[in-house]
Amino acid sequence: SDEKVQLKKKIADLLKEKQAVLVAHYYVDSDLQDLAEETGGCVSDSLEMARFGRDHAAKTLVVAGVKFMGETAKILSPEKTILMPDLDATCSLDLGCDPVEFAAFCDAHPDRTVVVYANTSAAVKARADWMVTSSVGLDIVAHLHALGKKILWAPDKHLGSYIQMQTGADMLLWQGSCLVHDEFKGIELEILKESHPAAKILVHPESPAAVVALADVVGSTSQLINAARSMDAQEFIVATDNGILHKMQMAAPNKKFIVAPTAGNSATCKSCAHCPWMAMNGLRNLLQVLETGENQIQVDPDIGRKAKLSIDRMLDFAA
Ligand code: 13P
Ligand code: SF4
Repeated sequence: SDEKVQLKKKIADLLKEKQAVLVAHYYVDSDLQDLAEETGGCVSDSLEMARFGRDHAAKTLVVAGVKFMGETAKILSPEKTILMPDLDATCSLDLGCDPVEFAAFCDAHPDRTVVVYANTSAAVKARADWMVTSSVGLDIVAHLHALGKKILWAPDKHLGSYIQMQTGADMLLWQGSCLVHDEFKGIELEILKESHPAAKILVHPESPAAVVALADVVGSTSQLINAARSMDAQEFIVATDNGILHKMQMAAPNKKFIVAPTAGNSATCKSCAHCPWMAMNGLRNLLQVLETGENQIQVDPDIGRKAKLSIDRMLDFAA
């Protein structure tokens, strides 16, 4: 619509004027993803978002995603201004891993190497030895396992047990989950697959084991998009946030993508296949933060310095 075009133009102008760059996740509104690419920013998975933000010369990063992504950007670049369209955009994994309880869990198991998922608060990362994202978590745990390390893993239990199964590592798991991926159902997916026998199944590892077991590819959002592009199939069933379909369809315009079945449908289940916190990012609040400079992400410098060690370990490993 005209209004959308105008909003996008205003945002693009302001980004330039403020020497700011837009860093977006694949789950946010497709207009924001397009705008990020059109204005020289990036749209990617959480590992690439972190790297892009760290390496970019811009003074201001506008992170369209959820809070942990903004915090990671701030931790890696404390000198930059980090803005987010809505500071209340969080993540059920982050909410489900209270830093004080987590510290007690770590204290109770001092013999274990602490590996936490990116989807956590700065304080939880500060307590960890390693932070990982879904794209490198398996490789990093395999590496630690080969060194004979025992692991304490938090917070996602599904990603944790997937990595445990794949690597055979000794892993003690925090019992968190993502409210979006937790809704995907194995039995319903099996039934859907029967009526689409040639379809390949792409699964984000935050999904339950019964869903992961049916996957042709398990990976981060970027890895799933790459699979959609490169795999020799015409049809795909996708078990992750439906925001990803925008990029998948662009990457493979002639292929067909179907969202994997969830417990409810979109009328009865507000978070089914779409993250309510990612959905808080829009053109209007993005414009507003650029105009006002409101919604700056702040991280306590001491916590940030400690958290940076665990993030840098991952970035060095993945380099
Ligand atoms: P990715 O790192 O795969 O983009 O995952 C982030 C996330 O929040 C998935 O729900
Ligand atoms: Fe967190 Fe799940 Fe939303 Fe990703 S989709 S940000 S894991 S609640």
